[in-house]
Amino acid sequence: GAPVEVNISKLEPGQLLRVEWRGKPVWIVRRTQEVLDGLAKLDGQLRDPGSEEPQQPVYAQNSVRAIKDEYFVAVGLCTHLGCSPTYQPDSFGEQVEGVPSGFFCPCHGSKFDMAGRVFQGVPAPLNLVVPPHFYVDDNTILIG
Ligand code: FES
Repeated sequence: GAPVEVNISKLEPGQLLRVEWRGKPVWIVRRTQEVLDGLAKLDGQLRDPGSEEPQQPVYAQNSVRAIKDEYFVAVGLCTHLGCSPTYQPDSFGEQVEGVPSGFFCPCHGSKFDMAGRVFQGVPAPLNLVVPPHFYVDDNTILIG
């Protein structure tokens, strides 16, 4: 499949942009500083907080899992059986107390934080996949 170019200039803080790449949904989420600050506090509740699983690009093998902290890019498919998790920018606290935003998979209840890191005790075995991508310029990401 061809790489997909995405213009992120209109993406507001907290917003999720969905594009398609190789027949899969890819998300670009603009994270606030508050969200980024919250990520570090979750490590103890996560299965693979440093994203050391081998499927990840090098720039995703850290707690923020991004080239630029502000923008999280991920394949929007649950690593359990491939359902598409729901972005819960305000209501994720219903899933994990004290964590305002994240991704929830309605199929079997897997939970992921704002870096796509999977919480412990859910069926999904791995963090969400970060696809290969790079910045063409400040407003443009090339996925693939
Ligand atoms: Fe997401 Fe099963 S497919 S929890």
